[in-house]
Formats: sequence, structure tokens, C-alpha cells
Amino acid sequence: MEGRILVKDRYFVPYIPYERLEKAIDAVAERINHDFKNFDGTPIILCVLNGSILFTGELMKRLNFPCEFTSVRLSSYEGTLSTGVTRKVLGLTSSIKGRTVIVVEDIVDTGKTITDLHALLLDAGAADVKICTMLLKPEVYKKDLKLDYVAMEIENRFIVGFGLDYDQLGRNSKDIYILDSKTEEKTAMKHFLIFGPPGAGKGTQAAKLIERFGLRHVSTGDLLRREIAAGTALGLQAKSLIDKGELVPDKVVEGMIASELDQHPDVKGFIFDGFPRTTAQAEHLDAMLAARGQQVDAVLSLMIPDETVFERIRHRAEIENRVDDTKPEIIRNRIATYHSKTEPVISYYKGKGVYREIDGLGSIDEVFDRVSAVMEEYL
Ligand code: IMP
Ligand code: MG
Repeated sequence: MEGRILVKDRYFVPYIPYERLEKAIDAVAERINHDFKNFDGTPIILCVLNGSILFTGELMKRLNFPCEFTSVRLSSYEGTLSTGVTRKVLGLTSSIKGRTVIVVEDIVDTGKTITDLHALLLDAGAADVKICTMLLKPEVYKKDLKLDYVAMEIENRFIVGFGLDYDQLGRNSKDIYILDSKTEEKTAMKHFLIFGPPGAGKGTQAAKLIERFGLRHVSTGDLLRREIAAGTALGLQAKSLIDKGELVPDKVVEGMIASELDQHPDVKGFIFDGFPRTTAQAEHLDAMLAARGQQVDAVLSLMIPDETVFERIRHRAEIENRVDDTKPEIIRNRIATYHSKTEPVISYYKGKGVYREIDGLGSIDEVFDRVSAVMEEYL
């Protein structure tokens, strides 16, 4: 196993050598063989592309009962349906109606992918769905869905190799490597994004974080108001659009952010709040930072259950006496819109290995301790 490897633009260090993976795969295959020894019927092994291609191959060599094979890919997020499932199964090559399916995944992180797929397979008529994953990040997995077979549990860090990618690269490594946050220069300027549904406490946490870590808070709403108040060319352009009831285009927002970055070359870093909201904006932010030799280091995602978001929005609306915002359908709609808008952005950053989920429940100080612990890994 090589020492340190460069995948695209990030360094990774050895984490799980192939020999250990093999042993874990032996053990999980043995459990599946045991459970299916006297199975009446022929289960279908379902490989979830692209990540689990190597794992599925290794696993299937070890299975000693009759089984069929098919593969599938999930579309990225499309917009929330009433079931909460936001994705489509692509390229399912055989019918699974009435069949027992053993889903083979490379890794379960938050569990969104696997719970979506589980629901979609039952919808497509599968009689039973078993789940087998090579890796699980138990610290982030918060779903109720039972994972029948887990070959190995790992910590909540980003890895590549043995089918897993960083921006589509690194899948062909036999061993698994982990993002080397220690050798990433600690002195370089850092860029954090803070994510979370309405009421998650983003603003509160951002304010405490900039104080503790000496960072600069970039809120696109504040920037707009400041440019308008200062009567700059950008501000005037923005104001005329807002006055006409139009949205401020991405280009204007990005221009403001670029000038904010350029005006503060000496800060330790930035925390972005309320931006980016779409994958197009995320790509632009990346390009803007890359042009300055920088990157998004971590996306801090404050997680609170939808029920809590619901209560907080309703509570806030009641205090501020906004009658419309207390209507349950309107609140539910806002929550659904939040999910369908942010899921693609989350997938985007997950693919870059910078997405970090943080439990947002508890007191302000408890949440702050959790967010600070993650930030300290970078600063
Ligand atoms: P989930 O939907 O949050 O469970 O994420 C599962 C998907 O995220 C996997 O199928 C991978 O594509 C990707 N993923 C999660 N963690 C990692 C990682 O550490 N390295 C590479 N890809 C990952
Ligand atoms: Mg991936």
C-alpha cells in the first residue's frame, strides 16, 4: 500500500489495506451464505453502481447458493414527491417483482441513498429487500432502516478506493485511503459553508464561530443590504431589481462575494451562510475559490428533524404574528422545498468529500461544541 496518494487535488493516506477488506468480506459472505443456505427460491444480487462494483464482484465470488445478478443506478435528487422519495431507479436490467433482492452497496453514510432505494425497490414489487454494505459510518447513520449485513464500520471521514471515488477518481485503488486533513496545510485560508433548514440556528452558530475562530461571516443577505446602503454600482443594480420585484441574479451575488473575498485577504477564513443554494452556484463558488488557489474545506450541515423545523417555524411565526406562516400546509411546503433545493447541493459536496453532518438538536452551547470540534480539524 502506497504512503500518500494524490487523487485529483487532495492528498489521501492509507486507511484500510486490501487484506483487511478481504477478511471483512469473507466474514460478511459467510453470514449471507448461512442465512440463505435453505432459502426457497433464487435471490437477486443487486449491485448499486458505480461505487459497489468492486465489492459486489468480491462478494459474489464467495456466495455459494444459487443467485441472479442485476445492477442499478440512482438518479440524483429531482424534487420531492409526497412519499419523500426524490430519486429514480435507472437501468434496472431485470424484473424484481415478487423476488428477494440483496442490495449491495459500497458505503452507507447518512443512509439517504439506501432508504430511497429500499422504498423504490418495494414499490417496484420486490417481495423482500436485504441490505449488504461494505462500509458504514455509524456516527452519521440515523435512519431506522435495518442494515442486514455490514462488512466494516468506519469513522465519519471521507475515503476513496475499492470502488469509492473522490470526484469520480480513485475507484480503481485496491486499498482504501482516507482524506489527509493533517497534511492539508493548516495555514491556508479556510472556507466553510453552514447549511441547515430554517430554524436550525445557522446564524447563531455562525456568529459564535467567527468569534471563536477569527473567521469572517459572509451572509449574502447582509452583503446585499450593505451594497445598497453604500450606493455602490452593484448595490444600485441589485436595488433596481429588488424594487421591480425581481430576483437578484447569480452573477450579481457572485460579484459581491468575489469582492468580499478580495477585500479581506488577511482573515483566517470565511463562513458562508445562505450561499450556495443551487449546484450551479456551488460550481461558481468552486471556480471563484480555485482562481484564488483556494477551496471549500468543509460544509457544516446542522441536522434537525422535520418535526422540529415545523415547530420552530410555527413558533417564530406566532411570535412575529405572521398568520400565513402558521398554516401547516404552508410550513410543510417550505420544508419540502428546502429539501428538494438543498439535496442536490449536498450530493455535490458529498462527492467532493467535504460534507459534514452535525446533530443540531440540543442547547446552543451543545451544538456549538459539536460544530467547533469539527472546525478544529481544519484550523
Ligand atoms: P448516503 O446517501 O448519505 O448514505 O451516501 C451514500 C453515498 O455517498 C455513497 O454511495 C457514496 O457515493 C457517497 N459517499 C459517502 N461517503 C463517502 C466517502 O467517504 N467516500 C466516497 N463516497 C462517499
Ligand atoms: Mg460517489
